[in-house]
Amino acid sequence: MTRPVVVITGASDGIGAALARIFAANGHELALVARRGDRLEALADEIAANGAVRPLPIELDLTTEDAAETLSELLGEAGLTPRFLVNNAGFGLLGRAIELDAAEQLAIVDLNMRALTALTLRFLPAIVAAKGGVLNVASVAAFMPGPGFAVYYATKAYVRSFSEALSQELKPLGVKVACLCPGPVQTGFQSRAGLDFSGVMGAMKPAMLPAAEVARQGYAGLMAGKRVIVPGWINRVFVWTSAVTPRALLLPLLASAQRRR
Ligand SMILES: NC(=O)c1ccc[n+]([C@@H]2O[C@H](COP(=O)([O-])OP(=O)(O)OC[C@H]3O[C@@H](n4cnc5c(N)ncnc54)[C@H](OP(=O)(O)O)[C@@H]3O)[C@@H](O)[C@H]2O)c1
Repeated sequence: MTRPVVVITGASDGIGAALARIFAANGHELALVARRGDRLEALADEIAANGAVRPLPIELDLTTEDAAETLSELLGEAGLTPRFLVNNAGFGLLGRAIELDAAEQLAIVDLNMRALTALTLRFLPAIVAAKGGVLNVASVAAFMPGPGFAVYYATKAYVRSFSEALSQELKPLGVKVACLCPGPVQTGFQSRAGLDFSGVMGAMKPAMLPAAEVARQGYAGLMAGKRVIVPGWINRVFVWTSAVTPRALLLPLLASAQRRR
């Protein structure tokens, strides 16, 4: 007998940790994945202290070639089987593609796209059998090209496209697939990306939703069978405006905004 769990990647910080708290508060058993095992242990203790089953912390670098297989084996050894998969781990880098380190930019592709796809494909049979679901964390970046953040935005467009297509394929099987597309949220993301809060980001701070609210809307949207979730009306207006703005106008505007970040 195996027990169903929610596998959450990037749970050691930010939106992933907030998602872990929401899933646990709604009675789900969890497996938490990231590289910083000490932070996962601390979060597992916190969740257990609140009365939920203690999550299984799994210290793993998802960009390693066989990460999906390793994760599957570790879950199996613990008697767990994925019912929900939350692909949240991801990062981006601010700067012009020609100036940023090529290997670091390829690492964005490895984590945001390759690992997300590998985990999804590896766990889908179990998720289908359990009539569970997949929550993929993209970004409002998924809706437009991002000069000054080119690789990151492109990876998030992939995540949205992949998620929307999967949701259609899996709906007849009773499996929910949703794509969570947050706007800026204050987390470890900014320092990893090379962003600081002295410029445009600082001015945006009051309009930023907290990670806990983004996670709450992501959880509710997934469970309600939504396909795409954009938390916050300002972000929904931004997405809509960018869709109707001609690219010839949008691209220089976005490039100038990124330069001021
Ligand atoms: N914050 C924002 O403004 C924002 C906006 C839109 C979308 N998002 C998206 O939201 C998701 C979560 O980001 P966040 O804002 O919460 O950033 P964060 O605080 O930096 O968290 C990123 C998480 O990913 C994990 N991670 C990074 N590299 C990994 C690897 N190689 N293997 C395993 N885990 C790895 C990190 O854990 P370890 O370092 O311990 O491995 C951490 O738990 C990302 O997909 C991001 O693109 C963020």
